[in-house]
Amino acid sequence: MKGLILAAGHGTRLRPLTYARPKPVIRVAGRPIIAYAVENLLEAGIHDIGVVVSPKTQPDVAAALEGHPDARFTYIVQEDPQGLAHAVRVARDWLGEDPFVMYLGDNLFEKGVAGLVARFQREHPSAAIALVEVADPRQFGVAVVEEGRIVRLVEKPQTPPSNLAVAGVYAFTPEIHPIIADLKPSARGEYEITDAIQGLIDAGRRVLGVPVEGWWKDTGRPGDLLEANRLLLQGMSPGVEGTVEDSELLGPVVVEAGARVVRSRVLGPALIAAGAVVEGAYVGPYTAVGPGASVCDAEVENSILEERARLEGVRIYGSLLGVAAEVKKHAERPQTPRLILGDLSRVEVPE
Ligand code: DAU
Repeated sequence: MKGLILAAGHGTRLRPLTYARPKPVIRVAGRPIIAYAVENLLEAGIHDIGVVVSPKTQPDVAAALEGHPDARFTYIVQEDPQGLAHAVRVARDWLGEDPFVMYLGDNLFEKGVAGLVARFQREHPSAAIALVEVADPRQFGVAVVEEGRIVRLVEKPQTPPSNLAVAGVYAFTPEIHPIIADLKPSARGEYEITDAIQGLIDAGRRVLGVPVEGWWKDTGRPGDLLEANRLLLQGMSPGVEGTVEDSELLGPVVVEAGARVVRSRVLGPALIAAGAVVEGAYVGPYTAVGPGASVCDAEVENSILEERARLEGVRIYGSLLGVAAEVKKHAERPQTPRLILGDLSRVEVPE
C-alpha cells in the first residue's frame, strides 16, 4: 500500500505565514504539520510515500521531511493545484495499480490512521473515508451513512444532509482512477475528490465511513493552528535535555537539547525547542518556542514562535510569529508601536 500526502495548496487563509512557506511546513508543537502525517503513515505500515507539491513549495517541503530514514519519498509536482482529485490524477503514474492512502498534508489526527488502514485491508471496500461528527459541517465534505456505508457525499453544502464531516484521510483501490479521469470540475472550478467518491457509490461500489478516534484538526486558519498546538502540547511527555538555570518549570515542559532557560518561569504544557533561549522571561501554557527562537525579558502565552523568532521586552498571547519574525520594545516614543509588516500581516493592540 502506498501513501499520498497532498501539500500543493496555496494556504491563502493563513497568509502572511504562507507567503514565504507552504502550510504543511508550519510548525505546530515544534514540528512541521506534514511530519505528523509521515509518522502516522509509517505507523500504519506505509513506507512508500508520494508527496504532491507545487514547484514553489517543493524545497521547503523536502527540507521539512528530512530525518525519516524509514520512509521512501517521491515528490510529485502539481503545477497548478486544481483540486484534490486533480492531485491524484497527477500522481496516477506513480500510484500504478497499488491501493493507496490519500492524506491531506494540513490535517492532524491524534490517533493516526492505522485504524482506518486496518479496516480497509480487512474489509476490502473500494474506499474507506475518515468521518467526524462536527457541529457545523458546511466547510467540509459531508457524508450520509447507512449501516457503515457511505451512500451520499457532498462538498461544502449550504444545507448539510448530516453532521458527519469528511476528515482529511481516504483509502482507495485503483478503481478510483478511471472515475477521476472522467471527472468534471465543480461549481467552484475544482476537481473534487468527493465527486469522485460519489462516482464510486453511483457505480454500486462499497465505500466505508470510518469514525475518527481521538481529536482531528484541519489547520486552515490561524486559530486552528493555535488549537492544534494546544492539543499536541497537551499530549507531549515532559523532559529536560537542555540547560535550565535559576528557573522554575511547572507542569509538563519540554526543554530540548541545546535550549537554554535562564532566570525564567515556564508553565507547561510548553516546548522550548533546540537552540532556543528563554531569559528573564515567562513562558506560559500552550506555547511552543521554535528552534533557535528567543524570549528575553518578555512574556508569552498560548502562542507559536517559529524558528529564530524573537521576543524582547514585550507581553503577548494568542500569537503566531513566523520564521525570524521579531517583536521587541523600543524607547523612542512611549505607547506608540513601530511596525514593519508584510502584506496581510495582522497586529491587534490593547485598548
Ligand atoms: O480538511 C478536510 C476537508 O478537506 C474535507 O472535509 C473536504 O471534503 C476536502 O475537500 C478538503 O477541503 P479543504 O477546502 O480544506 O481542502 P484544501 O483546499 O485546504 O486542501 C487540503 C490539502 O490538500 C492542503 O494541504 C493543500 C492540498 N492540495 C489542495 C488542492 C486543492 C493539493 O495538494 N492540491 C490541490 O489541488
